[in-house]
Amino acid sequence: MKRIFQLTMILCAMMITSSCTQSGKNKAMVTKETYGTHKGKEVFLFTLTNKEGNVLKLTNFGARITWIEVPDRSGKKENVTFGFDTFEGMLRGDPYFGAVVGRYANRIAKGKFTLDGVEYTLPLNNGPNSLHGGPGGWHSSVWDAEIVERTEFPTVKFTWHSPDMEEGYPGNMHVETVYTWSDKNEIVIDYKCTTDKKTVLNITNHAYFNLHGAGNGDILDHELVIKAARFVAVDSTLIPTGELREVAGTPFDFTTPAKVGARIGEDYDQIKHGKGYDHTFVLDNKEEVDCSLYEPVSGRLMEVISDQPGVQFYSGNFLNGSRIGYGGKPFIHRSGLCLETGHFPDSPNHPDFPTTILNPGETFTSKTVYRFSVK
Ligand code: BGC
Repeated sequence: MKRIFQLTMILCAMMITSSCTQSGKNKAMVTKETYGTHKGKEVFLFTLTNKEGNVLKLTNFGARITWIEVPDRSGKKENVTFGFDTFEGMLRGDPYFGAVVGRYANRIAKGKFTLDGVEYTLPLNNGPNSLHGGPGGWHSSVWDAEIVERTEFPTVKFTWHSPDMEEGYPGNMHVETVYTWSDKNEIVIDYKCTTDKKTVLNITNHAYFNLHGAGNGDILDHELVIKAARFVAVDSTLIPTGELREVAGTPFDFTTPAKVGARIGEDYDQIKHGKGYDHTFVLDNKEEVDCSLYEPVSGRLMEVISDQPGVQFYSGNFLNGSRIGYGGKPFIHRSGLCLETGHFPDSPNHPDFPTTILNPGETFTSKTVYRFSVK
């Protein structure tokens, strides 16, 4: 009895509960528990429950989304994002699942760029190129974390101080990522960055989605819309050639709903380079919703809203079943897809692309919304 009491006390001490609004069906809340330790810092798991009783889980390791539990058409709830049963599994697993990626999401050619005549050299971790901020990028940082009190919806704020020359990038950068889980099942992500030296920045979230439920088959039957008339053409190492190609008449036309798998096997240069879709689409930014993803069996719909110039659609081409996720289920080929909002790859080497330069005294802010519903 005494032992049970002690254990209960320990568990209570590990868990800080913060309640938000209490009216409505359920009590919206955030709980925090210890998940592990890494690089000498404590790693936490945050569970955000909205008034509908739907659950979003986050961790300060890489400021990650690890769990999104939303209902299907009949009300059956399932987690629709990739993650692992334990923190140890996460450390062994794919480095980017659900993570905030920076300083520079996607590739920089040959790991080199020049600012004001100074050439910067980055670690190469993807063939000849530098990918996702290098091996020690923000996906691997243990961010500071706080539950934001007195908000309308459950909210957690992650903060990272990225030191000058971290992974080769100049400037001390202060980075904030705030996640809000609304009662309309919207994950609202607010980014904010400042620097003390001229630098480059491309921040995104790298969640993988499967609206059947993570681990339940592939995403080839998902119907996708991307409001983009052009996409960024790439070479065989997935570096932009400089061409912004029209999607019309190509397997890249998602301006009206198309199944992900319908044209993924076509004999088309860009499909071959990506081994499927692994391309940035140039968002038209004319309508509120930039992308929508619909899975007809469950009826789940995910809409993506962004203020950024592009979205990287990655169809999980490099997943090969070797990594094991929740419930012992392997991440098989194309079992998840990403819609990563942000700038174009390798922009620091393409002066004609929208700029990714951030100067001292400027504040970069950006918002991305992933909204879940059924139809
Ligand atoms: C890239 C892929 C890469 C993947 C890693 C995506 O953003 O475009 O090429 O394999 O991230 O998870």
